[in-house]
Amino acid sequence: MTIIVTGAAGFIGSNFVINWLAKKNEKIIAFDKLTYAGNLENLKSVEKNPNYIFCKGDIGDSVLVKSILHEYKPRAVVNFAAESHVDRSILGPSEFIETNVIGTFHLLEEARFYYDELKSSNKDNFRFLHVSTDEVYGSLNLKDAAFKESNKYEPNSPYSASKAASDHLVRAWHQTYGLPVLTTNCSNNYGPYHVPEKLIPLCILKALQGQDLPIFGDGQQIRDWLYVVDHCKGITAVLEKGIIGETYNIGGWNEKTNLEVVNTLCGLLDELRPLHKGKSYKEQITFIKDRPGHDHRYAIDASKISNNLGWKPQETFETGIRKTVKWYLDNQGWVSHVQSGEYQNWMKKNYK
Ligand code: NAD
Ligand code: TYD
Repeated sequence: MTIIVTGAAGFIGSNFVINWLAKKNEKIIAFDKLTYAGNLENLKSVEKNPNYIFCKGDIGDSVLVKSILHEYKPRAVVNFAAESHVDRSILGPSEFIETNVIGTFHLLEEARFYYDELKSSNKDNFRFLHVSTDEVYGSLNLKDAAFKESNKYEPNSPYSASKAASDHLVRAWHQTYGLPVLTTNCSNNYGPYHVPEKLIPLCILKALQGQDLPIFGDGQQIRDWLYVVDHCKGITAVLEKGIIGETYNIGGWNEKTNLEVVNTLCGLLDELRPLHKGKSYKEQITFIKDRPGHDHRYAIDASKISNNLGWKPQETFETGIRKTVKWYLDNQGWVSHVQSGEYQNWMKKNYK
């Protein structure tokens, strides 16, 4: 048995591959275009695993995707491949439309052609799992209830609009063509191998390098944080037990303001890597111009996946964030490679 994982060299995809191979004796075809966000170093620990095969490619390349589906005959496609950074989508939305909308369309088409040719027993087992985000639901006010699967879609950024479009395509390929799809909409993840352009790894690394910690606006925006390994376990539960055609929200019940998150990071660094003369990393916090269209609050109601599939996060924010800070302190080789390339261009462009 084999599964294909797209976007496998990114943050969540690589955590998914590593955790899957540690638990299951099943082949994984790790498929990735290796954009600035894709990093084969994330997958170094599984390189020699006989169940691991890497293929470089674009989900929008129909010819290549067709040949891979025919060669490896997977029982599932798990689609993580995407452009994922909101700030990049504001400065340059076209790649988001290209990969998240058109790329997903081509992947769905090839999955459909492949599925149509399967024998009926293999058809029963086939799944197309699309990994999406809570950002498709838009922004909440402080008193609003957390996002349920029935919330309407109100995306506000080019990123969330492109993911919303992809979710709609996935739904339509099920309703119209009978492709056995599942969709997951997850809150903000954090953990190992996170590209240091996103808030948590960015602030850990900038703190250690003695730089300003850039907080957009007043830092009172709220995100619902989930440790990445818990997200991967949620995806596995949906793949194994989810009802075809349904969507599942995944979240950590961990709402924090951005300022709380950065203060927590600084507190952990003060403990684990103290500065001289009792100084605190908190002194590096700097408030900068807000992100245009900045969503105020995301919060996930994860009761459906919890009640129906028995999934619950195993890490609290306190345990997960401590593990994460330690991981960045212990993996300075990974950090210096990631910060040597495109990261520098992005920092100049976005924070100039
Ligand atoms: P990431 O940016 O770290 O990784 C994306 C990966 O996709 C990279 O390896 C990149 O090379 C690859 N990729 C990009 N375009 C491709 C293409 N056309 N063909 C093949 N591969 C391509 O993203 P992530 O944080 O790991 O997110 C993975 C998925 O999870 C995305 O779909 C994202 O929308 C979703 N998601 C992310 C979060 C989060 O907090 N990071 C939360 C909820 C959902
Ligand atoms: P981010 O990690 O980019 O995830 P998302 O925008 O998908 O939620 O940002 C998390 C929050 O942190 C978001 O409210 C924006 C804020 N933020 C900053 O305040 N400063 C920064 O430099 C970055 C990258 C994000």
